[in-house]
Amino acid sequence: MRILNFGSLNIDKVYSVDHFVRAGETILCTDMNIFCGGKGLNQSVALARAGAEVYHAGAIGTDGEMLREQLAASGAHLDYLQTLDMPSGHTALQVTPDGQNCIIVCAGSNAQLTEEYIDSVLAHFGAGDVMLVQNEVNNVPYIIRQAKARGMTVAFNASPITASILSYPLELVDYYLVNETEGRTLSGCGATDYETILAALHEKFPAAAIVLTVGSDGVLYQCGEERYSHGIYRVQAVDTTGAGDTFCGFFLASLARGLSVPQALEKASLASALAVSRAGACDSIPTWAEMEAFAKTAQAK
Ligand code: RIB
Repeated sequence: MRILNFGSLNIDKVYSVDHFVRAGETILCTDMNIFCGGKGLNQSVALARAGAEVYHAGAIGTDGEMLREQLAASGAHLDYLQTLDMPSGHTALQVTPDGQNCIIVCAGSNAQLTEEYIDSVLAHFGAGDVMLVQNEVNNVPYIIRQAKARGMTVAFNASPITASILSYPLELVDYYLVNETEGRTLSGCGATDYETILAALHEKFPAAAIVLTVGSDGVLYQCGEERYSHGIYRVQAVDTTGAGDTFCGFFLASLARGLSVPQALEKASLASALAVSRAGACDSIPTWAEMEAFAKTAQAK
């Protein structure tokens, strides 16, 4: 099974701060690092490190060579990656001492995917392949429609969530990978308890498999009558950036390896715990072997 990821690629400028900057405040950072990131790139790296055959489609700018190199080093296929004559996507990312983050994304070249380009990539894929997309590139509705029309399985990580997402062809999605905030917006359910959000998502998208990550409470899954949950693992949190992307990549890669859903939830939870224990987004993503080694000593929380 091949996985085609139409995904964003960002240069993450990561500022270590004592607290997130408040309205009207100017603060000094304690450290600054530049990492490769972008939800799309992170997920392709996670997929590749987990052993999946992943093709990354998207666009970098003239300053984005480090993004291409990072993806290539991870083992992702780059046949369809474009370089445009403009700046790449970038972020200003604050990280606090307890590992929490907040992120401003500037789309740059990620917002320049034309219908012609999308069609030219999709022409190489069809039934039996998976198309993964997040909400950090443009033309997501077109990508979903065209991928589905080609018989591909559609996986959607609805992140970052926007109001316009509700006008997307959401009924065509086969796998939703969302956190509780995204789940709440997508389902239109105002509840705070996770079971209610999951039930509302399932009611709205009865044919889809729902993977609902719920922070320190782990993950819930529902597809039809099938329901599972999995907890998180105990680690020292360094940086939560990219943990959701790691989960997403390892979950789909586990299914591509032929593992069951409960096994996929376990592998993805182990991998994302490791990602939380390391700095950076894509730099923090483990390999399959690292995840398996961690499994031998990991303690459930
Ligand atoms: O999910 C983490 C990613 O979100 C970061 O790498 C940043 O680029 C933003 O896209």
